[in-house]
Amino acid sequence: EAAEKAGFEHFMMKEIHEQPKAVQDTLGSVIKNNCIDLSSVEITEEEIRKFEQIYIVACGSAWHVGMAAQYVIEDLVDVPVRVELASEFRYRKMPINKNSLVIVISQSGETADTLAALRLAKEKDITTLAIVNVVGSSIAREADKVFYTLAGPEISVATTKAYSAQLVAMYCLAVQFARIRNTITEEQYSNYITELLTIPDKIQKILQDKERLQWFAAKYANAHDVFFVGRGIDYAISLEGSLKLKEISYIHSEAYAAGELKHGTISLIEPGTLVIGVLTQSDLYEKTISNMLECKSRGAYLMGLTTYGKYEIEDQVNFAVYVPKIDEHFVGSLAVVPLQLMGYYVSVAKGLDVDKPRNLAKSVTVE
Ligand code: AGP
Repeated sequence: EAAEKAGFEHFMMKEIHEQPKAVQDTLGSVIKNNCIDLSSVEITEEEIRKFEQIYIVACGSAWHVGMAAQYVIEDLVDVPVRVELASEFRYRKMPINKNSLVIVISQSGETADTLAALRLAKEKDITTLAIVNVVGSSIAREADKVFYTLAGPEISVATTKAYSAQLVAMYCLAVQFARIRNTITEEQYSNYITELLTIPDKIQKILQDKERLQWFAAKYANAHDVFFVGRGIDYAISLEGSLKLKEISYIHSEAYAAGELKHGTISLIEPGTLVIGVLTQSDLYEKTISNMLECKSRGAYLMGLTTYGKYEIEDQVNFAVYVPKIDEHFVGSLAVVPLQLMGYYVSVAKGLDVDKPRNLAKSVTVE
């Protein structure tokens, strides 16, 4: 097993470091000569033009990918997107437009609820597309179309590289759908592709700077509650950051759309409570920071995660973390990395079983 960990103490850290490659390989499987080619997914331009509604259905972190992707798809493609938990979708009685696309996302391709949701969509004669990591898995076999993520085997229960590969697969679908439906210009199309191709190097850069997070995580290893806040894409990334922390460090944490804090949750803020704000979206920065400052005035300790250049954050939060700049549609791929590291380092500081957290299985094949 030590050999399999390639010098890392845990599979999770190894897999965190494999993200640049997972992302590069997944992007490389569809980006050719600066164009996105979805022929391996077997989806035609005619099909792409006809969709009037997109459902994204998944569980856990894969659902968080859907949450982030919905903002990108709705903005670029101008088609309504609904993101559904597979365990809810499969039991909900709802009208579904025949011209819909159901995208299911799953690392294992064996998650029972996601598989059931896929079957339900097929029964209703809706086109299904699966984003899957495991070749030949049940979901891959049963979906009409498959976009394989090339993350390689993921051992750690807490997903990292599969999540990142799923996210870039969704970006590729969004950018290509937008081109085919003429909702972006050719110039925007090539700019988006250029930006997508910068993600692996930028993740690498974040990984080079991980010691600061290790220090910070050790400081908060005894926290009882941690709150993650953000708006839009930043909210989706907060959801993933919160899940990473709770699943491997057993610290209670919640992710909130920042504007929701004052509708109840802010009553939980006490002196010293850690509030982590994700602030990568320029147009939402002021709104989220003001929600965070409301927490600070009630004693919260603030960590702010933003992009290089937004140095004014130093005057507002207690601890700032920066990720490289990139087109803001895709910044989630970068912002998630410090949050993965944070969860990892807290778990290590507490001496927990990082790769096999209690009560959890890598693949949930029962309801
Ligand atoms: C995330 O770290 C979890 N291990 C979990 O939420 C996972 O993403 C979920 O169970 C879905 O699994 P799948 O991608 O294999 O369908």
